[in-house]
Amino acid sequence: MTETATLSYNGKTVELPVRHSVHGPDVVDIRKLYAELDVFTYDPGFTSTASCSSTITFIDGDKGELLYRGYPIDQLAEKSHYLEICYLLLYGELPTATQLEDFENRITRHTMLHEQMQYFFRGFRRDAHPMAIVCGVVGAMSAFYHDSTDIGDPWQREVASIRMIAKLPTICAWAYKYSIGQPFIYPRNDLDYASNFLHMCFAIPCEEYTVDPILARAMDRIMTLHADHEQNASTSTVRLAGSSEANPFACIAAGVACLWGPAHGGANQACLEMLREIGTPDRIPEFIARAKDKDDPFRLMGFGHRVYKNFDPRAKVMKDSADEVLGLLGIENNPTLQVAKELEKIALEDEYFIARKLYPNVDFYSGIILDAMGFPTSMFTPIFALSRTVGWIAQWKEMIEDKEQKIGRPRQSYIGAARRDYTDVEAR
Ligand code: SDX
Repeated sequence: MTETATLSYNGKTVELPVRHSVHGPDVVDIRKLYAELDVFTYDPGFTSTASCSSTITFIDGDKGELLYRGYPIDQLAEKSHYLEICYLLLYGELPTATQLEDFENRITRHTMLHEQMQYFFRGFRRDAHPMAIVCGVVGAMSAFYHDSTDIGDPWQREVASIRMIAKLPTICAWAYKYSIGQPFIYPRNDLDYASNFLHMCFAIPCEEYTVDPILARAMDRIMTLHADHEQNASTSTVRLAGSSEANPFACIAAGVACLWGPAHGGANQACLEMLREIGTPDRIPEFIARAKDKDDPFRLMGFGHRVYKNFDPRAKVMKDSADEVLGLLGIENNPTLQVAKELEKIALEDEYFIARKLYPNVDFYSGIILDAMGFPTSMFTPIFALSRTVGWIAQWKEMIEDKEQKIGRPRQSYIGAARRDYTDVEAR
């Protein structure tokens, strides 16, 4: 017996079926609402709207819990590694040793870019933001990899997925190299995914470069923590673009563009710049006051979240990783880390933040680690984008294979001018 929710309006009543969720709220299926009650629902920002059914990731905002295919993020961050998690997100189960070896080999052998693509980079100004380059180059992949753009062919979807997961680190590393005027460093098949990315970023042709295993492990963990996150703004952008049957590279480029915003993936860059502007703990009260001032557009970057109304579990892992990495690098007294910890402490004791359940999110500590690794702040969001590519792709594939999905086309509440006739200019 299907449970229902009853809605009455304007003398009519409709019974709406309720669909049960494994975790999280059940959902009221409103697909017949307009036909039967002649009304739309209204939910700008989709704070109470499920856009799809998904089996990939679940967030419990009250508990501060994040599950990838049912596995808690803190267990995965400690026991797994990024490419194993890519396999889990793409195919739904943790791989056997053989499956993992095969997957890692396939990714490794797709890390090179079409040689012609390097000239695409050279069309940008040297001072272009790396996200502008990444967004452009990812979109341009559809011009180089024609044999994996037919979204109706499962094999082409698979090839496009492998290509993007494999090539995003190369694209991001080359965007960085281009911005600092250094030659591109090619990927190497003898390095693991995170080490390969760091090598492409920091090696130079003139000498051997050995990746510090501490930094490789920290980078792998950062990628893991950013891999997927339910129907966030950029993932919803990828799904909406994919619903029009656009090619996979165009859909991921749309996700990159959306992620760039400082309210979303651009917050890691904005957060470190904010921490540097604060500079010393004694200036924290001034910035807390600004964050609370409704007349001041300033917000504490790296704080707050649409879903988490408790600690973002990723922020906890990231904070521990920041302590570990900076300690191992002998810079545990990093002033920016000290300001971050003091800011977190003061904010979490302040009624304004407590009342609004504002906690540090994934972006609050990530920039401190990336800064310690030697990345400029402009590279923080590209690293978020390369890490999230697997999540975008897993969600895009799920959308295409979902029989209930159709082209996304929201409606509106029109509050503009009522119908009126044209008036000639002489009569105006
Ligand atoms: C990411 O969705 C995802 O899952 C995203 C993400 C992912 O992995 O994909 O988790 C990645 O985008 C993390 C968020 C990164 N952004 C930032 O750190 C930027 C700073 N944060 C805010 O802009 C804000 O918290 C958002 C955008 C993250 C969430 O905004 P909401 O859910 O729309 O909340 P809101 O704007 O309605 O705020 C509710 C109240 C408001 O005050 P009142 O009007 O009720 O008095 O809280 C206040 C806001 O002014 N508030 C903040 C604040 N965040 C919210 N006040 C000061 N500083 C902040 N950071």
